Amino acid sequence: MITFPEGFLWGAATASYQIEGAATEDGRVPSIWDTFSHTPGKVRDGHTGDVACDHYHRYAEDVAIMADLGLKAYRFSVAWPRYGTPGFDFYDRLVDALLAAGIAPVATLYHWDLPQSLQDEGGWTNRDTALRFADYATGVYERLGDRVATWTTLNEPWVSAFVGYGSGRHAPGVRDAASAFTAAHHLMLAHGLAVSALRAAGAASISITLNLTPMLGDPEPVRLMDGLANRIFLDPLLRGAYPDDVLAHLRRFTDVNLDDLPAINQPIDVLGVNYYAPRHVRADPGAPGDAEYPGSEGIAIVPPEGPVTEMGWGVHPECLESLLVRLSREYPGTPLMITENGAAYDDKVDQDGRVRDADRVAFLDGHVRAAHAAIAQGADLRGYFVWSLLDNFEWAHGYHKRFGLVRVDYDTQRRIPKDSAHWYRELIAANGL
Ligand code: FCB
Repeated sequence: MITFPEGFLWGAATASYQIEGAATEDGRVPSIWDTFSHTPGKVRDGHTGDVACDHYHRYAEDVAIMADLGLKAYRFSVAWPRYGTPGFDFYDRLVDALLAAGIAPVATLYHWDLPQSLQDEGGWTNRDTALRFADYATGVYERLGDRVATWTTLNEPWVSAFVGYGSGRHAPGVRDAASAFTAAHHLMLAHGLAVSALRAAGAASISITLNLTPMLGDPEPVRLMDGLANRIFLDPLLRGAYPDDVLAHLRRFTDVNLDDLPAINQPIDVLGVNYYAPRHVRADPGAPGDAEYPGSEGIAIVPPEGPVTEMGWGVHPECLESLLVRLSREYPGTPLMITENGAAYDDKVDQDGRVRDADRVAFLDGHVRAAHAAIAQGADLRGYFVWSLLDNFEWAHGYHKRFGLVRVDYDTQRRIPKDSAHWYRELIAANGL
């Protein structure tokens, strides 16, 4: 039996555009994901978040499911496109329902749904967007700050910058290395300015969530790719400087204003870690490079060996353990929270109406054990959130990839807790396994 520290925060996560639907209701304005998903060819089978899990209307049922699971916390994101509209009241209702169920709300301010009007002015390549974000953060805090336990500024700025502006696989669909680095810098500035604003307004617990990708393989490519995936955010945010190698690399494409670094490097209370899989890399002189890692010519990303999830991602819980230990040693003093971990599998509903997702249970079990092993090695890990509470709109994959503990039938909006949901309920009740 392994037991977690008392008060360990077991939760589940979602994001606004992936579950809410109600895309044009109560004044919501278009976001870059509305534009992108409605552009033919961008999302598989033309799926959009117009309806998604209809959580905007069904949140009470969903909170009841969370309560039944015994969740201690729920990580959701606030839709910037609802800010300043009557529809923003939705978050009042959601937060109140969570508190009434004894579930701590953990709110992310930006999970990729930038208002299209800001994209029309350059989006994250425009420095002004960072200032606008700090104003928005302050406004949201004024509405919900008395009831939200933890504030997260950004979800996965690497994806926003390098998938949104580098490869263009995500909204806004730009393919330009210089724009990707510029966006990354402005996202970090947005974070730093928002932290200062939230702190001044009285927020007690502030965080940012990074997707951190362990790189495996030959040392030289690993060093470069680790810089482009991980240290490019960790070092400015937590140490106040770009690593020398990353800065030299970045300058091949563009430049950034280093005077912003003190504003970026604001103390945070928790570092959110999203972990799914490592990347395997090797030196390959003929490799063209990957647009999500600008300047990675001569490096090949090779397919994982062994079992993979429905996303094609390798299953490596030991990399979560080493990642957490690394963070606690190289960036000491910042408590850690796993804000996303989970897996897509091709779930089926059995004749008896049950979803027997033994593969997901095995995945989660392995990763929870890895998290525990990291704590035993001194990592100050405070919580674990499964991605995701519900099956939902998986970005460019549309509804084809199912990550939920709870199945969603998109024709009827019926929710069916999977075997993994029952497994998670027992884990939470025992605070271990
Ligand atoms: C993360 C995102 C989340 C979800 C999972 C599978 O990169 O934060 O919205 O798509 O991947």
